[in-house]
Amino acid sequence: MSTDTSSRSVTCQASPNIALIKYWGKRDEELILPDNDSLSITLDLTDMHSYTTVSTSPSMTCDTFYFEGVLQTKLSSRMQKVLGEVRRRAKDMQNQFVEIRSQNTFPASSGLASSASAYASLAIALTKLFNLDNPDATAAYLARIGSGSAIRSVYGGFVRWSSEGECLSSCVFPMEHWPDLRLIILIFNSSKKPVSSTDAMQRTRETSTLFSARLATVNDKIEKLIEAIRIKDFNTFAKIVMMDSSQFHAVCMDTYPPVIYLNEQSKHLIDLVHAYNETDENGAMKVAYTFDAGPNPFCFIREQHAEEFLRLLKYIYPTADNNVHKHVADSDAKLPSINVP
Ligand code: DP6
Repeated sequence: MSTDTSSRSVTCQASPNIALIKYWGKRDEELILPDNDSLSITLDLTDMHSYTTVSTSPSMTCDTFYFEGVLQTKLSSRMQKVLGEVRRRAKDMQNQFVEIRSQNTFPASSGLASSASAYASLAIALTKLFNLDNPDATAAYLARIGSGSAIRSVYGGFVRWSSEGECLSSCVFPMEHWPDLRLIILIFNSSKKPVSSTDAMQRTRETSTLFSARLATVNDKIEKLIEAIRIKDFNTFAKIVMMDSSQFHAVCMDTYPPVIYLNEQSKHLIDLVHAYNETDENGAMKVAYTFDAGPNPFCFIREQHAEEFLRLLKYIYPTADNNVHKHVADSDAKLPSINVP
């Protein structure tokens, strides 16, 4: 954080998160209150952040937003909602405007959604700039009304977002809890999703009959997953994570008109992972995939199998460019994100 008393400016950063149990559906669209609890991992990578600088000075005559250094013609309605809430809470902001400068240190083509880290860093920065009360809960609230999943990027490690009460998020375990857990991201397609998560989840609520079956079981799944993470039981972890991913995509398919985020390569990878998992003599799981609202798999694997699985991926996808190395738990270690043309 940096502050400058003459013009007052604060810079904060936040990282993207990957949902292990997906948030899908809002019981309140305006406040972004979720239908179910969700659980995610906030990536702990030194070079994958969103940075937001918020500034205010008496000379400003309107709110402005720069994305990657480029002035945007207007602020999105979500951003205006966040600023409206800050004005409501901050005594000294009533007649003041802000300049927001947001940038990501990872490319859109990395397969990671940047809206969660962007809104989380904006929320933390605004909370600091205006010295808002109850900073943790306030930053979480502001992040959430920007984009639901952003509330989980306010914290590091394994983060749960509750659907009860004030719908807060909290760190269940720090990332160091599971030091040999690795992540491999495969990029099958980095273009914009066909239907936004916001629109698709609303459509799901209106049309899917499978959705209520998901809601009836999802919180129970979270409890089981948390216990699996607590005792580092990768078999149970892998099964729950893959099943939740598939259930989420089944619900999307059951939406009318259907929302299809997976592509042929995604399905191929699903088969590959199950075939690979069957190669263990003791029937132990080696890899788990999960897909958010897109075709790119996030593969969780333990260190002991990472090199072998990578060799397999390079064999199956020989044209894959493998020059980005990332990792979940230890920012010094290497873990790849592979672009598959
Ligand atoms: C599939 O947080 O992007 O990634 O609250 O409407 O902004 P809004 O939606 P968003 O939805 C994320 C959906 C998901 C699952 C997840 O991250 O839990």
